[in-house]
Amino acid sequence: MSAGETAPVAPPPTAATSSPFTHLLVTGGAGFIGSCFVRDVLGRRDGTRITVLDKLTYAGNRANLAAVENDPEQAARFRFVQGDIADPAVVGPLVAETDAIVNFAAESHVDRSILDPEAFLRTGVIGVHVLLEACREEQARVELGERARAPRVLQVSTDEVYGSKDAGYSREGDVLEPRSPYSAAKAAGEQLVRSYAVTYGTDGVVTRGSNTYGPFHHPEKLIPLFITNALDDLPLPLYGDGMQQRDWLYVSDHAGAIEHVLRHGASGETYNIPGNAELPNREVVARLLELLDKPWSLVRSVADRPGHDRRYAMDGAKLHALGWRNRTTFERGLAETVDWFRANEAWWRASRSGEWDAYYARQYGTRIAGGSAMAQVARAESPNTR
Ligand code: NAD
Ligand code: TYD
Repeated sequence: MSAGETAPVAPPPTAATSSPFTHLLVTGGAGFIGSCFVRDVLGRRDGTRITVLDKLTYAGNRANLAAVENDPEQAARFRFVQGDIADPAVVGPLVAETDAIVNFAAESHVDRSILDPEAFLRTGVIGVHVLLEACREEQARVELGERARAPRVLQVSTDEVYGSKDAGYSREGDVLEPRSPYSAAKAAGEQLVRSYAVTYGTDGVVTRGSNTYGPFHHPEKLIPLFITNALDDLPLPLYGDGMQQRDWLYVSDHAGAIEHVLRHGASGETYNIPGNAELPNREVVARLLELLDKPWSLVRSVADRPGHDRRYAMDGAKLHALGWRNRTTFERGLAETVDWFRANEAWWRASRSGEWDAYYARQYGTRIAGGSAMAQVARAESPNTR
């Protein structure tokens, strides 16, 4: 077992693990992290049923759920509904028949939030409000004796709500200082959940995950963008000096921690989900190029993201005390991710189609034209694992 890879304290999920939740509503379940959650829960074959509600925006992809839909036993416990979490007519009946909601639905890319913030607010604020109102309806039905227990709602939030953390580690009680339209919308969404827990007694919990990576990651984000560009020998647009720092969390660890909090978290509480690797972007890129056997000369230093957060880093003691440990080191997770993208070219080429070219030109056209070669700095020994 290498550094940063620790044995789980919580029993690994098996068919024998009993869950208080037998029918889950997973909103945004056709996206990157949501689909991993769905595949992992249904793949356990413990009888849990899942309804996915997803709008299928540019980031939602039914193919992410193919493993479930092509397996008769899992498909029998699965239903897909295309729709918007901000639409009460769609949400109400689905919440009425489930006993927990895990809300992954969001516009999730900071750069797009800088170009066009409005969709972020509609899904991230109004959408969360609609989900919470549907929960409140169910609380009223409990009082009328029409159902035994109101649904629990878990809001998937992000470390970005803390804002840039130049030193030290963000803790759950810290002041939130979001600095992009994306993180401001996420902060508003999770504050709504807490406010419903306090005001109406809604059973709500919040998780704040760190930068997540792995298979099925939409190619707009740093790691999959750089893998897929490098496979095509295209320039890799690194913002500013490339020394911004993120803490990388493997997708199945993020999904597993969310399920752990869903089962064991206290209502009204928030839990950080840190990763296993705090690294500057340059170092991540150097490791990717090594795995891909591609030269550093592909890297272009380009104009920085406005308001670019320098560093995110969270304290994970509260989640640790709840019994959760991540299972995947950054070395293994990154190698598996690169292998997955190599083996799934049809998937990522399809994700880089449709509106992709227009987005790419808008986000990177001028940047890459005005970019310059970047010298490679000395490699770090290993990720800062905690
Ligand atoms: P993603 O963009 O891959 O997936 C989002 C999914 O939500 C897509 O399937 C999309 O179609 C769906 N969706 C969007 N708007 C919707 C709406 N109005 N109604 C129904 N469905 C809608 O995002 P992701 O990376 O899987 O992130 C999932 C969640 O985790 C988000 O809430 C995000 O803020 C949070 N998060 C992400 C990261 C990360 O690094 N990716 C880290 C921490 C937290
Ligand atoms: P990203 O994957 O967009 O996640 P987030 O903004 O949520 O952290 O970006 C990760 C880091 O990589 C962030 O510091 C921005 C940087 N980055 C680039 O340098 N170039 C790019 O083209 C992208 C998409 C990101």
